[in-house]
Amino acid sequence: MKARVTVVLDEKVGAVNPDIFGHFAEHLGRCVYEGIWVGEDSPIPNVRGIRTDAVQALRRLDPPVLRWPGGCFADDYRWRDGIGPRATRPRRFNIHWGNAPEPNQFGTHEFVDLCRQIGAEPYISLNLGSGSPREAREWVEYCNGTGDSTLTAERRANGSVEPFGVRYWGVGNELWGCGGHLQPGAYAAEVKRYLTFLNHFGIFKIACGPRGTNPFELRRDWTLDFFREYAKVQHPSQRPVEGFALHFYTRTPEAGGDLEFSPSEYYWSIQDTLRMEGLIQEVRAGMDAYDPGRATALVIDEWGTWHPQARSDTGLEQQNTMRDALVAALNLDIFVRNANVVAMANIAQTVNVLQAMILTKGERMIVTPSYHVFEMYRHHQAAESVRILVGSPTAGSGAPADPPVVAGSASLKNGRLFLTLTNVHIDQPVDVEVVLLGVDRPSVRRAAGRQLAGADVHAHNSFDRPRTIQPVDAALSWKGGDRSLLRLPAHSVSALELELA
Ligand code: AHR
Repeated sequence: MKARVTVVLDEKVGAVNPDIFGHFAEHLGRCVYEGIWVGEDSPIPNVRGIRTDAVQALRRLDPPVLRWPGGCFADDYRWRDGIGPRATRPRRFNIHWGNAPEPNQFGTHEFVDLCRQIGAEPYISLNLGSGSPREAREWVEYCNGTGDSTLTAERRANGSVEPFGVRYWGVGNELWGCGGHLQPGAYAAEVKRYLTFLNHFGIFKIACGPRGTNPFELRRDWTLDFFREYAKVQHPSQRPVEGFALHFYTRTPEAGGDLEFSPSEYYWSIQDTLRMEGLIQEVRAGMDAYDPGRATALVIDEWGTWHPQARSDTGLEQQNTMRDALVAALNLDIFVRNANVVAMANIAQTVNVLQAMILTKGERMIVTPSYHVFEMYRHHQAAESVRILVGSPTAGSGAPADPPVVAGSASLKNGRLFLTLTNVHIDQPVDVEVVLLGVDRPSVRRAAGRQLAGADVHAHNSFDRPRTIQPVDAALSWKGGDRSLLRLPAHSVSALELELA
């Protein structure tokens, strides 16, 4: 098979916000408890109760931002439960996730400690569904207060003299569902009410956007009705909300699973993932109707694969194969290509839940193929996205879903072009001619590359075989000049770094 990728170096799309490589960890199943928090007395090596192997692995991804505590959990969470001496913190039921016991051992201080250990900005989802503006505003003051107030003194007494400086705050989560089953107009009115009290803190607030898997009409209504209501200004002190968050999960047909799926089910998931790009354009277009100056940024604070065995009673656990790696790469390429529109994205979820970066079993930990994609793609962070044009055949699978086999994205930083490419064909390699176009007659001085592939799309890392999938150096023979031929193995992800002359 043959394809062509043209990189239009002079056509700048926009700066790639590092936050599009963000993560999300919820109190759900074994994500926080066991996956991150093991407690100070655990035999598992830890720093202040946070497991060291997970921190070391996550640090290698340069994670820009981590969202917490939910998800659905957020709109039932009382932040005061998670501060103060751990021995006396209340125990609750986690009503959204099987009434699991919630011991509140991991709270705000532990979360900020985790963020600092892995080098990520904290992003906290406030409780709008069952909370109040007062609780929200007090949580922000507790975290960020610098002056002389009782809440600030309480934070200091609980061990943090310095403010946490949390910039990102979600104003509830999935208010169309587990957050309260609100109508968009009613939710917009609530956001305005909350922001009246939150705007004084100089923080970045993110409102709940539509559910990407909903039918078109419901998605459109959520966006338009939200902004229509939001745009009704009664007083000049009202300000735009800084972010609006779409959620979109790649689904697997019911018959398929995380490890067992047919070629047509595989292509179905790939095709489903490609819907992300249209959703981004659609939601932005809806926002633009009321916010043409783009004062509100588009965020995608939940995305990833959701296979049928990820159910509430299984703690949303699933394995992670080369198919998941391709879904991760396709999405990240979409975000980079739409760098002028997407301000942040958070894959669900960091450990042991849905499309996890790492999996744990007691004291053992492995990284997934999706982890490797994040590690390979991290050089796009803070680079300048440039346009690419892809001429690609479709998979020719005979299945109803027949996606193009090659996709990718490109960015420029310090005279280096970073080009990431996927070949989703289930069993055929593709020979890609890469062409660089630019008024300055670009030429490549040095090229290096890495590739991630597996024996087949079902290949994955397990506790018995933790290194089945890992990136290898790509055999690249760029002979200088503005073009070269590259072979992309079947179902593979490639990352090329080209030093331009
Ligand atoms: O990520 C799992 C769940 O998916 C989140 O709690 C919720 O926001 C979404 O529906």
